[in-house]
Amino acid sequence: MSEPQPNGATTPTTRRTPHGPFRPGDQVQLTDPKGRINTITLQPGKLYHSHKGSVPHDAIIGNPEGTVYRSTGGVEYLAFRPLLADFALRMPRGAAVVYPKDAAQIIAMADIFPGARVVEAGAGSGALSCFLLRAVGEHGLLSSYERRPDFADIARTNVEKFFGAPHPAWRLTVGSLEHHLTETDIDRVVLDMLAPWECLDTAAQALVPGGILCAYIATTTQMSRVVEDLRAHGRFAEPTASETMLRTWHVDGLAVRPDHRMIGHTGFLVTARRLADGVTPPARRRRPAKAAHPAPDEPATREPAPAPATPEPATPGLATPGHTTES
Ligand SMILES: C[S@@+](CC[C@H](N)C(=O)[O-])C[C@H]1O[C@@H](n2cnc3c(N)ncnc32)[C@H](O)[C@@H]1O
Repeated sequence: MSEPQPNGATTPTTRRTPHGPFRPGDQVQLTDPKGRINTITLQPGKLYHSHKGSVPHDAIIGNPEGTVYRSTGGVEYLAFRPLLADFALRMPRGAAVVYPKDAAQIIAMADIFPGARVVEAGAGSGALSCFLLRAVGEHGLLSSYERRPDFADIARTNVEKFFGAPHPAWRLTVGSLEHHLTETDIDRVVLDMLAPWECLDTAAQALVPGGILCAYIATTTQMSRVVEDLRAHGRFAEPTASETMLRTWHVDGLAVRPDHRMIGHTGFLVTARRLADGVTPPARRRRPAKAAHPAPDEPATREPAPAPATPEPATPGLATPGHTTES
């Protein structure tokens, strides 16, 4: 059974809600005392088997999250529904997924809001699609494009598994964004692909004035290319580029320190806003550093280091302010 929606998609009646007592069909993360996690899908009459005995699914169904179950072998398992961040890191992958820390930044920096009309390419494994669908909600639109049919199948399976059914706000098109995009009046375009600069015309065509293009790229050469092409394009305002690092901490009594291992690199974000039609981007006020654009016959040199900041006069009794003023 399906109901028509304003965005042209349909609402299935079997969507999963991520709260309340455990129900048949829910995914459950069972964590053992060593922190090892196993994810199961609840089915009446089934047993979860480990090398330390079993736990009947029926013992979990109907109970709240955060409860503990003892297996027939005496091991205790803590049961929660997986969070989207857990699901995204453990889902079957075709293409590399966007990590939760970057998905969070994409939601913030691309300003994805409930009800937004968003275009995404490529859908890859569907991890970012899940985060974007959460942010646009049931009355928004996420139109995802993926040029590889095998990856599109993986994305569809992952998204439907996470939400428990097809999401009413989601359209998935198999094909290249630049050849298949049909939507107009789009608020945000999010690109996670090798060559986002090939999609700038398409994105500019689809975006509303003030809309945001957000490109997630893995290397500095891609970042440079997309930023320079956005500047040269003429329909976008000055882009911004950033990287987000996440360091987890070990906190145990007096042993409080950063974890020894971290994910050292994932990717960079570039965002730029769509100008109104017919508007020329304002000239950049700051002149680029000389070394940034050497003449073709000139050897490239390092960009000069910025002059040291002049310390602000200290105010007695006050800490030195942490900000600097732009000249
Ligand atoms: C790194 S993956 C995307 C991963 C995805 N964001 C996720 O979190 O699961 C990049 C994907 O972009 C697809 N792709 C590359 N260029 C494309 C284009 N022009 N149009 C549509 N898909 C494209 C590739 O096939 C690949 O699956």
